[in-house]
Amino acid sequence: MKVLVIGGGGREHAIAHKASSSQAVSKILAIPGNGGISNLAECFPLDVNNIPLLVSFAQENRVDLTIVGPENPLAKGIVDAFNASGLSCFGPVKKAACLEASKIFAKEFMTRNGVRTASFSIADSFQEALFQLNKRAFPVVIKYDGLAAGKGVRLVSNRTEAVSFLEEIFERNVFSSDSPRVLIEQALVGQEVSFLIVTDTVSYQPLAAARDYKRVFDGNQGPNTGGMGAYCPSTSLDQGTLSIINQDIVKKTLNGLAKEGIEYRGVLYFGLMITREGIYVLEYNCRFGDPETQVILPLLENDIIEVFQATISGSLQNITLKWKPKCSVCVILASSGYPGAYQTGYRITGLEQAKDVLVYHSGTRKIDQETLVTAGGRVLGVVGVDNDFKSAREKAYLAAEKIEFEGKFYRKDIASEV
Ligand code: AMP
Ligand code: GLY
Repeated sequence: MKVLVIGGGGREHAIAHKASSSQAVSKILAIPGNGGISNLAECFPLDVNNIPLLVSFAQENRVDLTIVGPENPLAKGIVDAFNASGLSCFGPVKKAACLEASKIFAKEFMTRNGVRTASFSIADSFQEALFQLNKRAFPVVIKYDGLAAGKGVRLVSNRTEAVSFLEEIFERNVFSSDSPRVLIEQALVGQEVSFLIVTDTVSYQPLAAARDYKRVFDGNQGPNTGGMGAYCPSTSLDQGTLSIINQDIVKKTLNGLAKEGIEYRGVLYFGLMITREGIYVLEYNCRFGDPETQVILPLLENDIIEVFQATISGSLQNITLKWKPKCSVCVILASSGYPGAYQTGYRITGLEQAKDVLVYHSGTRKIDQETLVTAGGRVLGVVGVDNDFKSAREKAYLAAEKIEFEGKFYRKDIASEV
């Protein structure tokens, strides 16, 4: 069968890599793909947000199954459009993707359905936001309502920082919205866990839980990024915590979706904060995480294509996910300046010396068969897999040192606490 992967990051490289081991797959196509994905798939430099173009592409190329990595095409209704044309596509429909596309929709959904989340207020103007701020003690978290590639959330510890971010949103309109809105939220303290499930609306299966490192610098300092590293399985979840997550968070969410007539098929990602007072949902994402996927999929024993097909056809209850009893650690090699401005086009060398690891490409581009250059903020994800975290971590860091490109930097403390 012909499989099309939409997206061009480390997550999509990990998905394409896992799909390439399926007996059912004869060819993989990717839009747009990247330097690493091009070793497994034929890549096409098309716009992932041009949904009619993607439908025509899938029809013309007789694609049997499309897997959507990023949130933007899901929020734009790629799955609705593919389904309407009789094409098989893995991911939630537009209405369901609102759980990620609007943080306000998600918070109101959680409130209606008794899913525990940080207390919040909503503001649709600068003045209203200032008024709401006056009612809260710092630190608070300010969240732009729409998709913002990881840049729409800021933890602010005083009024000056808060006003500066609100000015960016309302006065300078940095997220280019016709009518920007924000959430102003209680800041929670605890352990973050990325808890992903796959669901076909009838049943669900949890994926192995992961921990993502959002901040750019060691010791969780500096601004938020898309994620600077991850490990799997998460060590914060004992059986009691898992059972609370399943009962009080996952089931309440799925019951809420059913009650509200929202058919959710695909991966649903719960961004959780485990605090002393209990477990809170920080956010929902309507897709696989990046870099969580790079540590989760190497531990999955099942044929991922079977999982995708069962999700689409509503027969997930016939599948049990099986996990290797191993540990995985991903270290992201990033371009100097990320998550702010950075240069690209630097030659990447030393990949052949990165032994005994999986290297998933994020922002890379092949200039010719021999030359690979940087093409993004997050460049490569180096993943060590072993029987314990210490060995997995050592493998990842040894390889991370061998790979070179100008401006390379990475966190040195991924999985150091486990
Ligand atoms: P979100 O996109 O809503 O997950 O926010 C991005 C990141 O901001 C999360 O992964 C957390 O690290 C942080 N964050 C979001 N909401 C809160 C909160 N209420 N308290 C503390 N940190 C938060
Ligand atoms: N790593 C966080 C995310 O994928 O949203």
